[in-house]
Amino acid sequence: MEKILVTGGAGFIGSNFVRYALANTAYRITVLDALTYAGHLESLAGLPPERFSFVRGNIADAGLVDGLVAAADAVVHFAAESHNDNSLHEPRPFLDTNVTGTFTLIEAARRHGTRFHHISTDEVYGDLPLGDPARFTETTPYNPSSPYSSTKAASDLLVRAWVRSFGLRATISNCSNNYGPYQHVEKFIPRQITNILDGVRPKLYGMGQNVRDWIHVDDHSSAVLAILENGRIGETYLIGADGERSNKEIVELILERMGQDPSAYDHVPDRPGHDLRYAIDSGKLRAELGWAPSYSDFGAGLDATIDWYRNNQDWWRPQKAAAEARYREQGAGREQGRQ
Ligand code: NAD
Ligand code: TYD
Repeated sequence: MEKILVTGGAGFIGSNFVRYALANTAYRITVLDALTYAGHLESLAGLPPERFSFVRGNIADAGLVDGLVAAADAVVHFAAESHNDNSLHEPRPFLDTNVTGTFTLIEAARRHGTRFHHISTDEVYGDLPLGDPARFTETTPYNPSSPYSSTKAASDLLVRAWVRSFGLRATISNCSNNYGPYQHVEKFIPRQITNILDGVRPKLYGMGQNVRDWIHVDDHSSAVLAILENGRIGETYLIGADGERSNKEIVELILERMGQDPSAYDHVPDRPGHDLRYAIDSGKLRAELGWAPSYSDFGAGLDATIDWYRNNQDWWRPQKAAAEARYREQGAGREQGRQ
């Protein structure tokens, strides 16, 4: 493999993956990205032009996609509408991008026999009870809760069907919650860091007991490369780094690491249908492909992420007011006030 098409490469995980792959492989990479509110060309600044090119376009544009997929040895498909809160407010773009966009890409990959890796989320499995040892595995039944997770589940099922019915050379990975640089300020960790930098109190949905299984974005990238290169066609691999923490713990840790009173946050009304707990058993990926995460110290990874937002205000300031305005529009008081 030499030429890789990366969809959604101007987003959080896609842009980190492009930098990681350029540093750790000899690939030439073309990014296809529509530059929605979530895509930022600045996240791809300074990459070597002999190995990197950018095309602005929609993954649901069949004509454009056909030519780009034909020219690639493999597609790594990150592009998606990715935020649960937005999906509860306006689901349509989630269907258009996550379902129709994925369909458009796999049809092109089928026509041209192109290797395809589909990026997905552990949220397709629904949620787990709090305080329970159970974790998601590759055989956990699909049970998504939100418009976001149900459209990601639909896209996974399309890829699986294209493998079985048409022999598409595809793999799928379902990863837990990522953190790191270049994450949009609408998401939990960057929203709280940038609030604190702005002198605003962090916002915790409900009582903050919900648990997420955090992984550094570079560990997601190394896992995707391992699957792209050595994964078995037709297989799903779960990616996770044993990083379960409650939202309350995370907010308190961010405040503490930023030199604030750890109780200086607001409880705001909960997200409707809010999944309680996600937890990944990544045993298959580790045993089959010898993958292991590099970021074992969450506190150190969080400190580096806090420093990145402190030092890259030019990157996030243009998004911040719009993101908070969206929260205000979405109502239910999630933007302000105590519960
Ligand atoms: P993001 O919202 O930061 O980035 C999405 C990117 O896709 C943006 O650059 C956007 O411009 C682009 N895009 C959106 N619609 C498009 C379209 N129709 N055509 C072309 N480009 C389009 O998302 P992210 O957090 O980087 O997530 C990337 C992928 O990883 C998604 O598939 C998501 O489901 C999955 N994932 C995310 C997480 C997480 O914690 N963020 C965890 C597991 C899996
Ligand atoms: P988020 O980053 O939206 O990711 P996901 O919904 O995919 O897990 O949210 C992570 C967790 O943080 C989730 O349980 C919702 C919660 N949350 C807050 O408590 N406050 C916030 O301001 C946001 C954006 C999220």
